Amino acid sequence: MKYEPSLLEIVLTKLVFVLYGRSVYKIFSNRLPINGTESVLDFGSGMGTVGFYVAQKLKKGHLTCFDVSKRWMSVCRKTLRKYRNVSFLQSDFLALINDSFDVIFCHFVLHDIPKSELENIIPVLASSLKLGASFVFREPIKETIKLFEIKSLIEKNGLSLKESRITDVPLMGNALESVYIKK
Ligand SMILES: C[S@@+](CC[C@H](N)C(=O)[O-])C[C@H]1O[C@@H](n2cnc3c(N)ncnc32)[C@H](O)[C@@H]1O
Repeated sequence: MKYEPSLLEIVLTKLVFVLYGRSVYKIFSNRLPINGTESVLDFGSGMGTVGFYVAQKLKKGHLTCFDVSKRWMSVCRKTLRKYRNVSFLQSDFLALINDSFDVIFCHFVLHDIPKSELENIIPVLASSLKLGASFVFREPIKETIKLFEIKSLIEKNGLSLKESRITDVPLMGNALESVYIKK
């Protein structure tokens, strides 16, 4: 689904990032299975809210930010301009990825993508992980049916659930956070 944010949406997201960056995005980044050397993909990076904190942790690693939106990608480049260990990819999904990642994360992305698209996206993401690598998502708990579809697709593509938790995210409500491992 091609989608570009309005200027108002960008301004509001920047405001949330400034006011709630630590309590929403940093906390999530702290729970990612990262020790600093990994190759990490932020799928649906938006303006780089989580990426901003992840890039700081990857002292000897690399972060790839991917988004379908040109406008978000342009803001993301600005958010992360001080980091040298980040690359930016904006494209229709199927043009992506022949790399292999140690960690792929999706933060409030998958619940908005139609099932027919997820059926293409999740297999590509799963095949872009190294063996033993982690796939992490955080999505709103109220999207019950969508979460069921997401979990089924992830498991169908060779990933096993390692851990799950429900977190109360400021402004965004309860969210399901799950970590899967590629076997
Ligand atoms: C709600 S925003 C979340 C952005 C960021 N992860 C965050 O938490 O601040 C959803 C993002 O997913 C992106 N997105 C939606 N569909 C996508 C797709 N098929 N492929 C890649 N990115 C997509 C949107 O452009 C948007 O930047």
